[in-house]
Amino acid sequence: MDKFVIRGGNPLLGTVRISGAKNSALPCMAAAILTEDEVTLENVPQVRDIETERRLLVSMGAEVELGYGRAQHRTTISCHSLSDPVAKYEIVKTMRASSLVLGPLIARAGIARVAMPGGCAIGGRPIDLHIKGLEKMGATITQEHGYLEARAERLKGAHLVFERITVTGTEDLLMAAVLAEGETLMENCAREPEVQDLAALLTAMGAKIKGAGTSTIRVQGVQRLHGARHRINPDRIEAGTFLIAGAITGGDLMVANCNPAHLGAVIAKLQETGVRVDILGPDTVRVRADGRLRAADISTEEYPGFPTDMQAQYMALATLSEGVSAVKENIFENRFMHVQELVRMGANIKVDGSTAIVRGPARLSAAAVMCSDLRASASLVLAALVADGESILDRVYHMDRGYERIEEKLRGVGAQIRRMGNIFTPKEEELVAG
Ligand code: EPZ
Repeated sequence: MDKFVIRGGNPLLGTVRISGAKNSALPCMAAAILTEDEVTLENVPQVRDIETERRLLVSMGAEVELGYGRAQHRTTISCHSLSDPVAKYEIVKTMRASSLVLGPLIARAGIARVAMPGGCAIGGRPIDLHIKGLEKMGATITQEHGYLEARAERLKGAHLVFERITVTGTEDLLMAAVLAEGETLMENCAREPEVQDLAALLTAMGAKIKGAGTSTIRVQGVQRLHGARHRINPDRIEAGTFLIAGAITGGDLMVANCNPAHLGAVIAKLQETGVRVDILGPDTVRVRADGRLRAADISTEEYPGFPTDMQAQYMALATLSEGVSAVKENIFENRFMHVQELVRMGANIKVDGSTAIVRGPARLSAAAVMCSDLRASASLVLAALVADGESILDRVYHMDRGYERIEEKLRGVGAQIRRMGNIFTPKEEELVAG
């Protein structure tokens, strides 16, 4: 099983280039199901979840080319014939975002069988809101043997109001609505940039969408969609992770190929802790820190609030901040898996329900730690970059799901990090869900 060996103490200096957003690429790949024509996506990140999505689409009968390096991180998907519109459990259990094929499959094929995703390390991850919306649009949905089966002659436009803001719920139903009969009005939608990215692709395919990126989205259904080419947004969570890496190591780091407009809450919070953050243009942010950090509270919110996907990374920084930082997690019920591992490295953190109280500055010391989920892993990497000594991080396959070549990128700006151990066995992979 792959491990990282990280020796702390080096300030990160230089320029790191951000990859495309995994959480944009996943719905955009699913959107290819909506047309018989070819869909080409560029700036696709070379991460494990994208490979999983490729396998899922191929298992349903799609042709998927996925190339990196010279191929400019590009995938070309043709769902000309979907011979088997089933998202099988073996694949879905390794990536719950597989539920994103539900809406497009019903819209395109009139039938979908999708394994229930099940929970993951950070929470139960239900998809009841996806199901309610599809039923409101006329789908008949049954659940048996761990699978959802959905059928609809043709979905009908409806007035959907999300009881709770859901990112992939908004994306799933947006993809269902673009081929539905008539108009769909969706309220209390997620406003994440990934929703806007998906809507941009769907519009390029011929969909009629207004309001993506706001809480209210209006869709006029069309008879069919055609192929398109689309460039995936930069990954705002990878960018935020590297901003914190520059801050926590007391470095001077240029984060390039990012979109500063998607990082407002993260940049404001870092500046509140005393970190210098300068926006140097439309795709570059500079972060500088001199080691002195002030405590500051965070409370995770849907976009444009402070992202839950940055909570674990911020907590690593808070362990070094002077004073008491309250970290409140409002989105997921179990997203403090990194706390105990940070405590083992010397952090002073007490969890009280959905709030972690972090007292600093702590002196972090290197340790052998275990990664549990994608963003908890990032938190441990950040802590190890400043811990005294050499840390061993186990189960880094969690990292590989959403960070492209992270050890190479970190080494490129001065971190002492290397990967060791054999490729983990497929059995280990089956434990991965999320
Ligand atoms: C997306 O997950 C992201 N994943 C997550 O990123 C991210 O943490 C999350 O949005 C919140 O921003 C992808 O985009 C692939 P939600 P999603 O539906 O859509 C509850 C990462 O690290 N809920 O917005 O699954 C749910 O339990 C991953 O890259 C229901 O109750 O999250 C949660 O408490 C982790 N019923 C809250 O809503 C539903 O039907 C928000 O979940 C759907 C969601």
